[in-house]
Amino acid sequence: MTPLERWYVEHGRHDLAWRHTRDRWSVLVAEVMLAQTQVARVASAWPEFLARFPTVEAAAAASVGDLIVAWGRLGYPRRARRLWEAADFVVAHGWPDDLTLLPGVGRYTAGAIRAEVDDEPDAIGIDVNIRRVCERTEGASLRDREAESVALRLARPLYGRDRLLALMDLGALVCTARAPQCDRCPLRRRCATRGERDGEVRSRQPRYEGSFRQRRGRVLDLLRRAERVEIGDVDIEVVQSLVDDGLAEIREGLVTLPGRGPSSAGSSRAGRGLTR
Ligand code: ADE
Repeated sequence: MTPLERWYVEHGRHDLAWRHTRDRWSVLVAEVMLAQTQVARVASAWPEFLARFPTVEAAAAASVGDLIVAWGRLGYPRRARRLWEAADFVVAHGWPDDLTLLPGVGRYTAGAIRAEVDDEPDAIGIDVNIRRVCERTEGASLRDREAESVALRLARPLYGRDRLLALMDLGALVCTARAPQCDRCPLRRRCATRGERDGEVRSRQPRYEGSFRQRRGRVLDLLRRAERVEIGDVDIEVVQSLVDDGLAEIREGLVTLPGRGPSSAGSSRAGRGLTR
């Protein structure tokens, strides 16, 4: 066993719930959630969301508004809309070989799904943690494709799922942005920088308090809970941006989540033209 393999066996986050399934939809939901939300919050949201929408068919048959409600307070709710669009695509066409054809699925998510679900030997995705490990060991900033080939090399003979998760966990637990524990690192012998390189700057999220995101969050919360929301009673600038993003609709002077308005055609695919 290499030092990285041994470290992963002993210290990897094997108990995370989404690592116990190879179901493509369940893993897609987890990766979309994890892209912008902390692991601890996803740990409680993911099972609830999947209990409500256990399959792509269940998600596609619901309205976008239903997915936004189930998304709860995870933030960045456009992700819920994109998941609905992805489910709709898969129900209509099947899972594409190139997963980046799905709305909301970029290079990382596509690679991660191929690694986690299919255990494909060459599959890798570069998330913020894996990037940090690669850039620190190389001592250079790397483009995605460069980081991918460094990751493949660094983790040998691990491949597919174990390679992705071992490097990700190493970045999350040892090769951390602010306090890397180089003395515990299984890659220290081949590391060019010993933790000096901080790849984290670009990933920091903007402040939430007082932000437009916070105002949007408040209005979305109201739309999730209230029976009737009149247009005159809510922050119109926010409503406009939600409508532009496909996260709200205005009908007959009322603001609603998509597919939940007064004369909308309901949740099914039959009403798709109006209810998205
Ligand atoms: N397990 C699988 N994908 C993950 C991710 N993106 N973050 C944390 N744990 C994961």
